[in-house]
Amino acid sequence: MKISVQSKNGEHSFDCGGRETILHAGLREGLTLPYECATGTCGTCRARVVGGEYEVLWKEAPGGKRLKPEKGDILMCQTRPLSDCSLMVPSELKVVQSGRPAKRAGTIRNIKPLTKDVAHFDLHLSEPMQFEAGQFIVVETPDLVGGRAYSMVNFTASPSDHIQLVLKQKADGKFSDWLFGDRKAEEAVTVFGPLGRAVFRPSEDKDIICIAGGSGIAGMMSILEHAVQADYFRNHKGTVFFGVRTHQDTFYLAPLADFVSRSHGNLEVTIALSHEESVSEVHQQYPNLKLATGMVHEVAKNGLGDRGENAIAYIAGPPPMVDGAIRALLGSGMTVGSIRYDKFG
Ligand code: FES
Repeated sequence: MKISVQSKNGEHSFDCGGRETILHAGLREGLTLPYECATGTCGTCRARVVGGEYEVLWKEAPGGKRLKPEKGDILMCQTRPLSDCSLMVPSELKVVQSGRPAKRAGTIRNIKPLTKDVAHFDLHLSEPMQFEAGQFIVVETPDLVGGRAYSMVNFTASPSDHIQLVLKQKADGKFSDWLFGDRKAEEAVTVFGPLGRAVFRPSEDKDIICIAGGSGIAGMMSILEHAVQADYFRNHKGTVFFGVRTHQDTFYLAPLADFVSRSHGNLEVTIALSHEESVSEVHQQYPNLKLATGMVHEVAKNGLGDRGENAIAYIAGPPPMVDGAIRALLGSGMTVGSIRYDKFG
């Protein structure tokens, strides 16, 4: 089926297969359609259908709250065409050649609990994928409707068929129930990616600030891995605030401590405990990691000082935490253009 898109700077068209969403098909063709989460929560991929038939996959998607479906408003990440369609997208678009996402088969293996509600898992891909530190993929399973977004934890400079991901179990999370439940040693899934524009590129030549809540640390691990591999901290500062509820909810402390030890003294990592008093200023087992008490965005606000000058900030976590962290960073003098974030709905 053919999708025609009228944008602020002209018309574009691309083919969309019967099972593809309009967003996936357009991105696969290199069109820079607007999106953030790719899974129905943020509302960034809104468009208006002005001709053609379509079906909406997740009618209650939180990202669609402000849309007017009676006027043809859709979330492109939640819409599949049933015929050729024409849509209007309120953005300027272009076609890019590099970094186009694609669909691959994947196999989930080695699911390892990290805390009582966070698990690490490996994903083996049918074909290698090149991704940038900070990017994510959408994972789909035939057993469940819709996809779930996961940031890559690892980083490799060349295309890789092995990626590492982190899963947080949610009270009403069908996907996490599916994965945390009584599963086989391997699970077959479909993977679409890489996605996401909140990426780290050493050529930007700026200090790094990372503020993460819970499993939001995943993409920061990839960014730090890339920075350490590139010896980036020889000439740049890094400041990480990692928020969890209590000591028992911490994970990835060993690799974080390893990154600090390889940073020439230029990387500082603070673990912020929101529901437990930190009895010491440093972690007992990993003394090169600092400890603090409070919500992570508050701890970041108090601890940033003038570190926002000449820095790029990466934020990932639940929406209220991300909003609080953005306010803290703007209050410390950073500009909107130097703040990159992922909100997990
Ligand atoms: Fe579609 Fe976020 S990209 S709702």
